[in-house]
Amino acid sequence: MDYKQHWDEAFEKTETEQLGWYETTPQKTLELIHETGIQKDARILNVGVGTTTLVDSLLEEGYSNIIASDLSSSALEQLKNRVHSDQVEYIQDDLTHSEKLIHIEPVDLWIDRAVLHFFNKEEEQKAYWDLVHQIVKPGGFVLIAAFSLEGAEKCCGLPVHRYSADMLKNDIGEGFDLKDAFDYTFINPRGGERPYVYTLFQRKR
Ligand SMILES: C[S@@+](CC[C@H](N)C(=O)[O-])C[C@H]1O[C@@H](n2cnc3c(N)ncnc32)[C@H](O)[C@@H]1O
Repeated sequence: MDYKQHWDEAFEKTETEQLGWYETTPQKTLELIHETGIQKDARILNVGVGTTTLVDSLLEEGYSNIIASDLSSSALEQLKNRVHSDQVEYIQDDLTHSEKLIHIEPVDLWIDRAVLHFFNKEEEQKAYWDLVHQIVKPGGFVLIAAFSLEGAEKCCGLPVHRYSADMLKNDIGEGFDLKDAFDYTFINPRGGERPYVYTLFQRKR
């Protein structure tokens, strides 16, 4: 399966506000970002960024060093045309076979909402966690929101691997402390319930 084509088509065929994962305000993600206490000029990497309004919110709040990365060049193009900011760097890359992110300077915060859960194969998950371990600074944070064990079995036509906070804690490994975790049921633009688990980890120094 050509996943880049799959995601490009998803973003080309549907208006951002109608996407099944669209949030008007990414409130829960923002709450966890505030909890980290990072500086406004901290390096923030949003993986699988899509066309999320989180980037607009981060800019509005004064964060000035944002990296927006996605497999889909269509999503990145739409995002770039919407936010018009030189405080955002765009990197098209595949988290499961990274060629570009592996070479970037370490980041203070890694943000993933609704991306990791698409990686069903062990080697995809390993590639994801290896990248986290490689590019998150000691003392840096990892924020992951994934479909919870009560969540949907598919998203955007693809099967998902659902998580609990304990599973994420186990998978990220002993080098990270769990700082916060909670369940949150997102209501999607069609009124469907999408139960998520939100987690915030900090890398040990
Ligand atoms: C459900 S959307 C979530 C988008 C965004 N995080 C949000 O909350 O609105 C999943 C995103 O993951 C991206 N994605 C899927 N597989 C990927 C991969 N292997 N590497 C990088 N991004 C990927 C898709 O292109 C899409 O933008």
